Amino acid sequence: MRVAVYRLRGEKDDFEHEIYSTILRYNGIEVIEFDYATPDLMQILRDSDAIVLKWGHSHNEHQFVRTYLPILDFQMRKRIFPDYKTCWHYDDKVKQDLLLKQAGFPFVESWLFYDKQQALDWAETASYPLVFKLAQGAGSFNVFLVKNKIYARKLIRQMFGVGRHLNTMSLAERFGLVNKNLNKLLRYYRREIYSRWLDQEHIGLWSKQKNYIYFQKFCPGNEYDTRVTTAGLRAHAFRRFVRKGDFRASGGNTWDINPENIDLRMVRLALDISKHFGFQSMAYDFVYDETGEPRIVEMSYMYGGAGYPDFMNGYWDFDLTWHPGRFWPQYFELADLLPELSLTCPELETRTGYRHAKIIGNN
Ligand SMILES: Nc1ncnc2c1ncn2[C@@H]1O[C@H](COP(=O)(O)OP(=O)(O)O)[C@@H](O)[C@H]1O
Ligand SMILES: [Mg+2]
Repeated sequence: MRVAVYRLRGEKDDFEHEIYSTILRYNGIEVIEFDYATPDLMQILRDSDAIVLKWGHSHNEHQFVRTYLPILDFQMRKRIFPDYKTCWHYDDKVKQDLLLKQAGFPFVESWLFYDKQQALDWAETASYPLVFKLAQGAGSFNVFLVKNKIYARKLIRQMFGVGRHLNTMSLAERFGLVNKNLNKLLRYYRREIYSRWLDQEHIGLWSKQKNYIYFQKFCPGNEYDTRVTTAGLRAHAFRRFVRKGDFRASGGNTWDINPENIDLRMVRLALDISKHFGFQSMAYDFVYDETGEPRIVEMSYMYGGAGYPDFMNGYWDFDLTWHPGRFWPQYFELADLLPELSLTCPELETRTGYRHAKIIGNN
């Protein structure tokens, strides 16, 4: 048995790759490493019994997966994580919105336009505030509160004009996201200048988005969002608190992982949605709408990394029975991909890329 495991290109450490490989090798399985520029890639993939291709936000990865995955999944019928149905909508909130709503699941109310004049007309009578989002983005990048029609009009003209780079915000937008912290602001510009001008080959997000605009209804009064993550039909959840004086939680890095504080309606919904669509894994971001009902604002097959804080203290099964313990989503993903092997999980070290993470409720 040989499994091809994707490795981030050009990175010294790739914790996810290490976790998958360690589990596989511990179970006596041969691991072949690949990235999107490996020579003879198709041959390597063809010769593998299964493929683990956990890919992220970078445009190079998007480009690679869009090209290869349909062939691997539909033509070559490879056993692959993630498969097409799990990730064709990854990192695209518009696709997620349309997919979930047509099946009757509670995605937040939204407005999508592909025509400038239609958007401008609508903005005249819309009720504010609204949330503007680019389809792509993470860590609350590209998610903004639109308090009035002046800002809405400006965004519409921009989106149907020069467009928006995925990593570029105005000074005011950026200042808000870093909690008015000057040091963080300078760090951002240093990185931005380096990647945009000095090292263009390795810039992660090189595209612009334009000629559409997407708004969501603003759900007021949420002090946290709840991220419910499924791996197969097991779910873990934690709450992420919003930044001080802001409405955005994602990327803020203060978490509560106590399962007693989780609204089980959200866990139920996450498990039902993942089952309905056959998602191998999925992380759902929930907020409450003004009537107190859970609403999904985005979903992502990709989450976690080195296992912090996902599945740190247990999981719910499909019947909402809680199973306490330290679990690894990567182990669940592999166990579901290769069920006949009855894989066992070795002791793994928890690491984190979140330098300023605060974690509470760790029982
Ligand atoms: N419609 C909304 N109403 C209220 N808060 C929202 C809404 N959409 C997003 N948020 C907040 O903004 C954060 C970032 O939004 P999200 O869509 O999850 O983008 P990202 O991909 O950057 O994580 C969320 O974690 C949530 O706290
Ligand atoms: Mg999010």
